[in-house]
Amino acid sequence: MLPKHVAIIMDGNGRWAKKNGLSRNEGHKVGSEKLQNIIEYAQQKGIQYITVYAFSTENWNRPKAEVDGLMRLMQNYLDKHLERVKTENFKFKVIGERTKLGTKLIKKIAELEEITANKTGTYVTIAINYGSRDEIIRACRAMIADTSEKINLEKVITEENLCQYLDTREVPDPDLIIRTSGEVRLSNFLMWQAAYSEFYFTDCLWPDFDEAQFDKALLDYQNRKRRFGKSE
Ligand code: FPP
Repeated sequence: MLPKHVAIIMDGNGRWAKKNGLSRNEGHKVGSEKLQNIIEYAQQKGIQYITVYAFSTENWNRPKAEVDGLMRLMQNYLDKHLERVKTENFKFKVIGERTKLGTKLIKKIAELEEITANKTGTYVTIAINYGSRDEIIRACRAMIADTSEKINLEKVITEENLCQYLDTREVPDPDLIIRTSGEVRLSNFLMWQAAYSEFYFTDCLWPDFDEAQFDKALLDYQNRKRRFGKSE
């Protein structure tokens, strides 16, 4: 069976750029084009949900020129796609703490979400200024703020209720998490949601990740036995 939800850590743009004599920001630009190809391909294959890690809460620690370049890239991506998404069948959602993103980008994100809110096709989640720890803390604060002063801890603080306060509340947990570029870690991405995800790691650098690579990951997933903690 195909995974319903695929999440991707798009790693290796910097190394790819270096290998090809380009700047890191040029690497990110090619990475964003690859992202578009993979989103379209995922839709063709009938994948219902795709979530990608575009910028983490830790990525602010990169040099200013790179951070500015990434923000500009996301802004340009939205400028380029806002018209187009009207006629396509993707639903877009951005997760992460967005107040830090600058008014122009925040406005474009809201526009993208609004235009595609009623679309029924592949649900694309883009994680920007996203970190799992930050998400869980924000969810806990919101959950407690929503309750009366004297809370019944066992009734209010439950797994199901916390899920309803996470940024990802509208989407099921990822079935498959792909990370490119040979790194084997989660880097603060969907840590709660990944409890029973299958992982696929590849040495392929993100800008080289194409449809054939994606198919390879899907095939690998299809050969896994998922038990969710049960015995056979
Ligand atoms: C990791 O590679 C990649 C990122 C931190 C950015 C990922 C962003 C994109 C692919 C573009 C997103 C664009 C849109 C429009 C959503 P790295 O820089 O850590 O690579 P390295 O480990 O080789 O240095």
